[in-house]
Amino acid sequence: MKGVVLAGGRGSRLLPLTKITNKHLLPVHDRPMIFFPLETLKRSGIREILIVTEGKYVPAFRKALVKFSGVKISFAVQKKPDGIAGALRLAEKFTAGENLAVILGDNIFEDSFLKEARAFRSGAQVFLKPVHDPERFGVAEVRGSKVVKIAEKPRKPKSNLAVVGLYFFDKNVFDIIRKMNPSKRGELEITDVNNFYIHRKSLNFSKIKGFWSDAGTFESLAAATKLVREKAQK
Ligand code: TTP
Repeated sequence: MKGVVLAGGRGSRLLPLTKITNKHLLPVHDRPMIFFPLETLKRSGIREILIVTEGKYVPAFRKALVKFSGVKISFAVQKKPDGIAGALRLAEKFTAGENLAVILGDNIFEDSFLKEARAFRSGAQVFLKPVHDPERFGVAEVRGSKVVKIAEKPRKPKSNLAVVGLYFFDKNVFDIIRKMNPSKRGELEITDVNNFYIHRKSLNFSKIKGFWSDAGTFESLAAATKLVREKAQK
């Protein structure tokens, strides 16, 4: 399985910091945010990783990652922030027909996904976590052992299960994105990709156990920093 870290986007909720740098170069305790999704993929047995980000920050990423060892890292440039699926689209050549683990660059996980990555064969897999504010996320409606629908930031969530920022896809994901239209906010949405797999009856899920947070708001960045610091002190 190959890995992709999505590290483009606007980062508007972290302004003015993201006026001068890319969100994923900001510190979470003692290292740049990008280290965390890379470490999550590495802990999950993935050894070849593509980082999708803005062209002007590629040199800074390279510099920050000089000493990040054990994985082969390459870059793809997202020219404009046209969505998570828009960024993923740029990984088609890199993927070369293999299965793919896609992680959002601002997601901090305590768990590893080695078992799940080894077991994954085809279709798509999402990971769910109960949260107290599901309306901020993609929310999964689960019936028995199946996700029947994912609603993007619903006003009246059907469950408390957030879809976290790690996804496994087979190579069909690129054909699916090609057929999609941008959402009302002008982005190619990852939730639409996942709903497409649900429609084909080929989306599975598992629940995650450990800490998970995004770090894309001042509030969540502080929470992630606190957790990483506490773990480092143990
Ligand atoms: P978001 O946090 O949804 O968007 P954002 O990073 O642009 O931030 P904000 O909403 O504050 O403006 O994106 C989640 C992750 O997805 C983020 O870590 C970067 C990645 N992403 C891309 O790589 N390309 C994109 O076009 C978008 C929208 C997000």
